[in-house]
Amino acid sequence: MNDATLLDKTVFITGASGGIGSEIARRCAARGANLALFARRLDKLQTLKEELEKDHPGKIKVYQLDVSETDQIKEVFTKALDDFNGIDVLVNNAGYGVFRYAHDATIEDIKGMFSVNVVGLIYCTRMVLPVMRKQKHGHIINIASQAGKIATPKSSIYSASKHAVIGYSNALRMELADLNVYVTAVNPGPIETNFFDIADKEGTYVMNVKKYMLKPEFVAEKVVNAMLKPKREINLPWWMNTGSYLYVLFPRLFEKVGKKAFNKK
Ligand SMILES: NC(=O)c1ccc[n+]([C@@H]2O[C@H](COP(=O)([O-])OP(=O)(O)OC[C@H]3O[C@@H](n4cnc5c(N)ncnc54)[C@H](OP(=O)(O)O)[C@@H]3O)[C@@H](O)[C@H]2O)c1
Repeated sequence: MNDATLLDKTVFITGASGGIGSEIARRCAARGANLALFARRLDKLQTLKEELEKDHPGKIKVYQLDVSETDQIKEVFTKALDDFNGIDVLVNNAGYGVFRYAHDATIEDIKGMFSVNVVGLIYCTRMVLPVMRKQKHGHIINIASQAGKIATPKSSIYSASKHAVIGYSNALRMELADLNVYVTAVNPGPIETNFFDIADKEGTYVMNVKKYMLKPEFVAEKVVNAMLKPKREINLPWWMNTGSYLYVLFPRLFEKVGKKAFNKK
């Protein structure tokens, strides 16, 4: 895959050191984009940069960033916006989950997931909004989750954080509608990434959903396609999305019928 459909576009990706973030970076680079890649593990970002620079001509820069630290976001995004002289697409991908019953959740779990998945995402967006509003074009892609559509046992906090991302994205989309700045919420079901090293340490959830898991390459391809043809939401897989419609229509019945499946964590 090597085309130039994102030639001269600048794409910022948070959480680019692994999982779907790296796969999105690979596909953007293959389409000619300039890339600003952010994560805490600078060594992983450097390795990815070297890999991408072998085959692709776009400008690539990496930045160490912990999105739970808003001062860092301010400093690092200011530098990146200056280095690239602007931005076309922001992919807010950094995030994590801990699957634990609500009564077992620690304050670190609660604050941690909200600082990264919600406050971090909102503040990264806040940093690029003045630029996109002024230039009257841009695209903000927020990686939420099907957990932001259907909340299930052992993921109350993670689900709440992803519901927040979808709510924020919906309001932002309306604020930006007349400015040629698009907002896409991406809501995947389980994906085969290292996400579960933290989320599901016992491995029970992974064992139960393994056969339904999405490939990170597939999800990344859908995200990059949306950069070329903006979409309101990307919901994957299709059958899980159908479930979320049914949930809105028949919540009590859905919770009753799905009880056994939802408790498989
Ligand atoms: N895997 C799934 O089943 C699934 C399903 C739906 C949605 N999602 C969402 O998809 C996104 C990517 O997850 P993934 O599956 O690709 O997981 P992953 O392989 O664990 O990757 C997560 C990425 O987020 C970064 N990150 C985590 N905490 C960070 C922090 N405090 N500051 C900056 N970067 C941070 C990590 O980089 P560093 O550790 O280097 O900082 C890493 O690059 C997340 O928002 C996740 O909630 C995942």
